[in-house]
Amino acid sequence: MENLRSKIQESVRFIQDRIDFQPEVGIILGTGLGALVDDVECDRVIPYQDIPHFPISTVESHHGNLILGELSGKKVMVMQGRFHYYEGYSLVTVTFPVRVMKGMGINTLVVSNAAGGMNRNMKRGDLMIIADHINLMGNNPLIGPNDPELGPRFPDMMKVYDPELRELALTIATEKGMRIHQGTYVVLAGPNFETPAEYRFLIAIGADAVGMSTVPEVIVARHSGMRVFGVSCITDLAVDGVIEEVSEQIVIQAANEAEPKLTMLIRELVGRLK
Ligand code: HPA
Repeated sequence: MENLRSKIQESVRFIQDRIDFQPEVGIILGTGLGALVDDVECDRVIPYQDIPHFPISTVESHHGNLILGELSGKKVMVMQGRFHYYEGYSLVTVTFPVRVMKGMGINTLVVSNAAGGMNRNMKRGDLMIIADHINLMGNNPLIGPNDPELGPRFPDMMKVYDPELRELALTIATEKGMRIHQGTYVVLAGPNFETPAEYRFLIAIGADAVGMSTVPEVIVARHSGMRVFGVSCITDLAVDGVIEEVSEQIVIQAANEAEPKLTMLIRELVGRLK
Protein backbone atom coordinates (compact mmCIF):
# COMPACT_ATOMS: atom_id res chain seq x y z
CA MET A 1 0.00 0.00 0.00
CA GLU A 2 2.83 2.37 0.95
CA ASN A 3 4.12 1.23 -2.34
CA LEU A 4 0.99 2.24 -4.29
CA ARG A 5 1.03 5.65 -2.63
CA SER A 6 4.69 6.23 -3.42
CA LYS A 7 4.10 5.18 -7.06
CA ILE A 8 1.19 7.63 -7.29
CA GLN A 9 3.40 10.37 -5.84
CA GLU A 10 6.18 9.64 -8.32
CA SER A 11 3.81 9.86 -11.30
CA VAL A 12 2.20 13.01 -9.90
CA ARG A 13 5.59 14.68 -9.48
CA PHE A 14 6.66 13.66 -12.98
CA ILE A 15 3.56 15.31 -14.48
CA GLN A 16 3.65 18.37 -12.20
CA ASP A 17 7.26 19.01 -13.20
CA ARG A 18 6.08 19.39 -16.81
CA ILE A 19 3.23 21.85 -16.30
CA ASP A 20 2.81 25.11 -14.44
CA PHE A 21 -0.87 24.91 -13.60
CA GLN A 22 -3.19 22.84 -11.48
CA PRO A 23 -5.71 20.75 -13.49
CA GLU A 24 -9.20 20.66 -11.98
CA VAL A 25 -11.04 18.22 -14.24
CA GLY A 26 -9.95 14.75 -15.34
CA ILE A 27 -11.38 13.34 -18.57
CA ILE A 28 -11.10 9.75 -19.85
CA LEU A 29 -11.94 9.22 -23.52
CA GLY A 30 -13.20 5.83 -24.67
CA THR A 31 -12.98 3.79 -27.87
CA GLY A 32 -13.29 5.97 -30.98
CA LEU A 33 -13.90 9.05 -28.84
CA GLY A 34 -10.49 10.68 -28.77
CA ALA A 35 -11.31 13.76 -30.86
CA LEU A 36 -12.22 15.93 -27.87
CA VAL A 37 -8.52 16.61 -27.56
CA ASP A 38 -8.75 18.74 -30.74
CA ASP A 39 -10.78 21.18 -28.63
CA VAL A 40 -8.22 21.28 -25.85
CA GLU A 41 -5.80 24.17 -25.87
CA CYS A 42 -2.95 21.90 -25.35
CA ASP A 43 -0.11 22.78 -23.05
CA ARG A 44 1.58 19.40 -22.82
CA VAL A 45 1.22 15.97 -24.39
CA ILE A 46 2.87 13.20 -22.41
CA PRO A 47 2.93 9.70 -23.92
CA TYR A 48 1.92 7.11 -21.33
CA GLN A 49 5.15 5.23 -21.82
CA ASP A 50 7.10 8.22 -20.50
CA ILE A 51 5.20 8.43 -17.21
CA PRO A 52 6.61 6.35 -14.37
CA HIS A 53 4.32 3.42 -13.42
CA PHE A 54 1.81 4.14 -16.19
CA PRO A 55 0.74 1.07 -18.15
CA ILE A 56 0.80 1.19 -21.95
CA SER A 57 -2.46 0.90 -23.89
CA THR A 58 -2.41 -2.17 -26.16
CA VAL A 59 -5.66 -1.54 -28.06
CA GLU A 60 -5.08 -0.06 -31.51
CA SER A 61 -8.13 2.21 -31.42
CA HIS A 62 -6.82 3.87 -28.26
CA HIS A 63 -4.11 6.48 -28.33
CA GLY A 64 -1.85 6.49 -25.34
CA ASN A 65 -1.40 10.14 -24.43
CA LEU A 66 -2.00 12.29 -21.43
CA ILE A 67 -3.05 15.75 -22.58
CA LEU A 68 -2.77 18.70 -20.24
CA GLY A 69 -4.31 22.01 -21.14
CA GLU A 70 -7.47 24.04 -21.15
CA LEU A 71 -10.99 23.16 -22.27
CA SER A 72 -13.84 25.68 -22.11
CA GLY A 73 -11.82 27.81 -19.70
CA LYS A 74 -11.05 24.95 -17.29
CA LYS A 75 -7.67 23.33 -16.72
CA VAL A 76 -7.99 19.70 -17.70
CA MET A 77 -6.01 16.48 -17.75
CA VAL A 78 -7.28 14.22 -20.53
CA MET A 79 -6.54 10.55 -21.01
CA GLN A 80 -6.65 9.90 -24.74
CA GLY A 81 -7.03 6.14 -24.44
CA ARG A 82 -7.64 4.06 -21.35
CA PHE A 83 -6.59 0.67 -20.00
CA HIS A 84 -8.90 -2.33 -19.97
CA TYR A 85 -9.09 -5.37 -17.74
CA TYR A 86 -9.24 -7.62 -20.83
CA GLU A 87 -5.79 -6.41 -21.87
CA GLY A 88 -4.49 -8.42 -18.94
CA TYR A 89 -3.85 -5.60 -16.48
CA SER A 90 -4.92 -5.87 -12.87
CA LEU A 91 -7.71 -3.46 -11.94
CA VAL A 92 -5.27 -1.64 -9.66
CA THR A 93 -3.22 -0.94 -12.80
CA VAL A 94 -6.28 -0.06 -14.91
CA THR A 95 -7.31 2.55 -12.32
CA PHE A 96 -3.83 3.86 -11.50
CA PRO A 97 -4.28 7.00 -13.67
CA VAL A 98 -7.38 7.94 -11.67
CA ARG A 99 -5.31 7.75 -8.47
CA VAL A 100 -2.80 10.03 -10.17
CA MET A 101 -5.56 12.48 -11.15
CA LYS A 102 -6.67 12.64 -7.52
CA GLY A 103 -3.03 13.04 -6.47
CA MET A 104 -2.80 16.03 -8.83
CA GLY A 105 -5.68 17.64 -6.93
CA ILE A 106 -8.41 16.83 -9.46
CA ASN A 107 -11.85 16.45 -7.89
CA THR A 108 -14.08 15.96 -10.93
CA LEU A 109 -13.86 12.99 -13.31
CA VAL A 110 -15.62 12.84 -16.69
CA VAL A 111 -15.62 9.39 -18.33
CA SER A 112 -16.87 8.25 -21.71
CA ASN A 113 -17.15 4.90 -23.40
CA ALA A 114 -18.58 3.03 -26.36
CA ALA A 115 -21.36 0.68 -25.32
CA GLY A 116 -23.97 -1.70 -26.66
CA GLY A 117 -27.52 -0.34 -26.29
CA MET A 118 -30.14 -2.64 -24.79
CA ASN A 119 -33.01 -0.23 -24.26
CA ARG A 120 -35.68 -0.30 -26.97
CA ASN A 121 -35.79 3.51 -27.16
CA MET A 122 -32.18 3.64 -28.25
CA LYS A 123 -30.76 4.20 -31.72
CA ARG A 124 -27.21 3.66 -32.88
CA GLY A 125 -25.17 6.81 -32.28
CA ASP A 126 -27.28 7.99 -29.32
CA LEU A 127 -25.69 9.14 -26.10
CA MET A 128 -26.64 7.80 -22.67
CA ILE A 129 -25.89 9.64 -19.45
CA ILE A 130 -24.84 6.97 -16.98
CA ALA A 131 -27.17 7.17 -13.98
CA ASP A 132 -25.97 4.02 -12.24
CA HIS A 133 -23.94 0.90 -12.92
CA ILE A 134 -23.83 -2.85 -12.31
CA ASN A 135 -20.42 -4.42 -11.85
CA LEU A 136 -20.34 -7.87 -13.44
CA MET A 137 -16.63 -7.82 -14.13
CA GLY A 138 -16.06 -10.49 -11.52
CA ASN A 139 -13.41 -8.28 -9.96
CA ASN A 140 -13.06 -4.96 -8.17
CA PRO A 141 -10.17 -2.47 -8.10
CA LEU A 142 -10.50 -2.12 -4.31
CA ILE A 143 -9.83 -5.79 -3.54
CA GLY A 144 -6.73 -6.14 -1.39
CA PRO A 145 -5.46 -4.25 1.65
CA ASN A 146 -7.08 -0.81 1.92
CA ASP A 147 -5.00 2.32 2.33
CA PRO A 148 -7.16 4.66 4.44
CA GLU A 149 -5.12 7.60 3.09
CA LEU A 150 -6.63 6.84 -0.33
CA GLY A 151 -10.21 6.14 0.77
CA PRO A 152 -12.48 4.07 3.03
CA ARG A 153 -12.50 0.25 3.20
CA PHE A 154 -16.22 0.09 2.39
CA PRO A 155 -17.10 3.07 0.18
CA ASP A 156 -20.72 4.06 -0.21
CA MET A 157 -22.14 3.63 -3.73
CA MET A 158 -25.55 5.28 -3.45
CA LYS A 159 -24.86 8.32 -5.64
CA VAL A 160 -21.98 7.29 -7.81
CA TYR A 161 -22.89 9.48 -10.79
CA ASP A 162 -23.32 13.03 -9.53
CA PRO A 163 -27.02 14.00 -9.76
CA GLU A 164 -26.24 17.69 -10.38
CA LEU A 165 -23.89 16.90 -13.25
CA ARG A 166 -26.47 14.55 -14.78
CA GLU A 167 -29.07 17.32 -14.53
CA LEU A 168 -26.63 19.76 -16.14
CA ALA A 169 -26.01 17.33 -19.01
CA LEU A 170 -29.77 16.93 -19.56
CA THR A 171 -30.15 20.72 -19.65
CA ILE A 172 -27.36 21.02 -22.23
CA ALA A 173 -28.87 18.25 -24.37
CA THR A 174 -32.28 19.94 -24.27
CA GLU A 175 -30.78 23.32 -25.20
CA LYS A 176 -28.94 21.78 -28.13
CA GLY A 177 -31.89 19.66 -29.25
CA MET A 178 -29.86 16.49 -28.76
CA ARG A 179 -31.42 13.05 -28.27
CA ILE A 180 -30.13 11.71 -25.00
CA HIS A 181 -30.95 8.86 -22.65
CA GLN A 182 -30.21 8.23 -19.04
CA GLY A 183 -29.71 4.70 -17.79
CA THR A 184 -27.76 1.92 -16.16
CA TYR A 185 -24.43 0.75 -17.55
CA VAL A 186 -23.41 -2.85 -16.93
CA VAL A 187 -19.78 -3.87 -17.23
CA LEU A 188 -18.45 -7.29 -18.20
CA ALA A 189 -14.81 -8.27 -18.41
CA GLY A 190 -14.87 -8.91 -22.17
CA PRO A 191 -13.08 -9.12 -24.54
CA ASN A 192 -15.75 -11.08 -26.42
CA PHE A 193 -19.04 -9.37 -27.10
CA GLU A 194 -22.13 -10.89 -25.50
CA THR A 195 -24.04 -13.99 -26.54
CA PRO A 196 -27.79 -13.57 -27.20
CA ALA A 197 -28.50 -15.31 -23.87
CA GLU A 198 -26.15 -12.90 -22.09
CA TYR A 199 -27.89 -9.88 -23.68
CA ARG A 200 -31.28 -11.25 -22.57
CA PHE A 201 -29.89 -11.69 -19.05
CA LEU A 202 -28.46 -8.15 -18.96
CA ILE A 203 -31.76 -6.69 -20.15
CA ALA A 204 -33.62 -8.74 -17.53
CA ILE A 205 -31.49 -7.40 -14.68
CA GLY A 206 -32.27 -3.82 -15.69
CA ALA A 207 -29.23 -2.68 -17.64
CA ASP A 208 -29.61 -0.22 -20.53
CA ALA A 209 -26.09 -0.34 -21.97
CA VAL A 210 -23.22 -2.82 -21.78
CA GLY A 211 -19.49 -2.36 -22.09
CA MET A 212 -16.07 -3.44 -20.88
CA SER A 213 -14.71 -0.35 -19.11
CA THR A 214 -15.46 2.72 -16.98
CA VAL A 215 -16.76 1.00 -13.82
CA PRO A 216 -13.30 0.27 -12.33
CA GLU A 217 -12.20 3.88 -12.85
CA VAL A 218 -15.46 5.18 -11.43
CA ILE A 219 -15.21 2.94 -8.34
CA VAL A 220 -11.73 4.28 -7.65
CA ALA A 221 -12.82 7.87 -8.27
CA ARG A 222 -15.63 7.47 -5.73
CA HIS A 223 -13.29 5.69 -3.32
CA SER A 224 -11.07 8.74 -3.45
CA GLY A 225 -13.98 11.17 -3.09
CA MET A 226 -14.13 12.58 -6.62
CA ARG A 227 -17.45 13.52 -8.22
CA VAL A 228 -18.16 11.63 -11.43
CA PHE A 229 -19.96 12.22 -14.71
CA GLY A 230 -20.21 9.32 -17.17
CA VAL A 231 -21.57 9.09 -20.70
CA SER A 232 -21.91 6.14 -23.08
CA CYS A 233 -21.98 6.37 -26.82
CA ILE A 234 -24.35 3.67 -28.11
CA THR A 235 -22.46 2.01 -30.95
CA ASP A 236 -24.60 -1.08 -31.55
CA LEU A 237 -27.97 -2.38 -30.46
CA ALA A 238 -29.04 -5.50 -28.65
CA VAL A 239 -32.64 -4.64 -27.92
CA ASP A 240 -35.22 -7.27 -27.22
CA GLY A 241 -35.84 -9.29 -30.36
CA VAL A 242 -33.20 -7.51 -32.48
CA ILE A 243 -29.73 -8.58 -31.53
CA GLU A 244 -27.29 -7.37 -34.15
CA GLU A 245 -23.84 -8.66 -34.85
CA VAL A 246 -21.15 -6.39 -33.52
CA SER A 247 -17.46 -6.01 -34.24
CA GLU A 248 -14.67 -3.68 -33.23
CA GLN A 249 -14.99 -1.92 -36.62
CA ILE A 250 -18.72 -1.33 -36.13
CA VAL A 251 -18.07 0.05 -32.64
CA ILE A 252 -15.28 2.38 -33.78
CA GLN A 253 -17.21 3.63 -36.81
CA ALA A 254 -20.34 4.38 -34.79
CA ALA A 255 -18.30 6.05 -32.05
CA ASN A 256 -16.53 8.21 -34.62
CA GLU A 257 -19.90 9.22 -36.10
CA ALA A 258 -21.35 10.12 -32.71
CA GLU A 259 -18.18 11.81 -31.56
CA PRO A 260 -19.16 15.42 -32.44
CA LYS A 261 -22.20 15.12 -30.13
CA LEU A 262 -20.16 13.66 -27.32
CA THR A 263 -17.48 16.29 -27.76
CA MET A 264 -20.06 19.08 -27.67
CA LEU A 265 -21.70 17.68 -24.52
CA ILE A 266 -18.41 17.33 -22.64
CA ARG A 267 -17.13 20.72 -23.81
CA GLU A 268 -20.32 22.45 -22.61
CA LEU A 269 -20.46 20.49 -19.36
CA VAL A 270 -16.85 21.25 -18.47
CA GLY A 271 -17.40 24.93 -19.26
CA ARG A 272 -20.35 25.09 -16.88
CA LEU A 273 -18.78 23.16 -14.02
CA LYS A 274 -18.73 24.99 -10.70
N1 HPA B 1 -20.93 -5.16 -25.68
C1 HPA B 1 -19.87 -4.90 -24.93
N2 HPA B 1 -19.10 -3.88 -25.12
C2 HPA B 1 -19.40 -3.05 -26.12
C3 HPA B 1 -20.50 -3.26 -26.94
C4 HPA B 1 -21.30 -4.38 -26.70
O1 HPA B 1 -22.30 -4.64 -27.39
N3 HPA B 1 -20.53 -2.24 -27.82
C5 HPA B 1 -19.48 -1.45 -27.54
N4 HPA B 1 -18.79 -1.93 -26.51
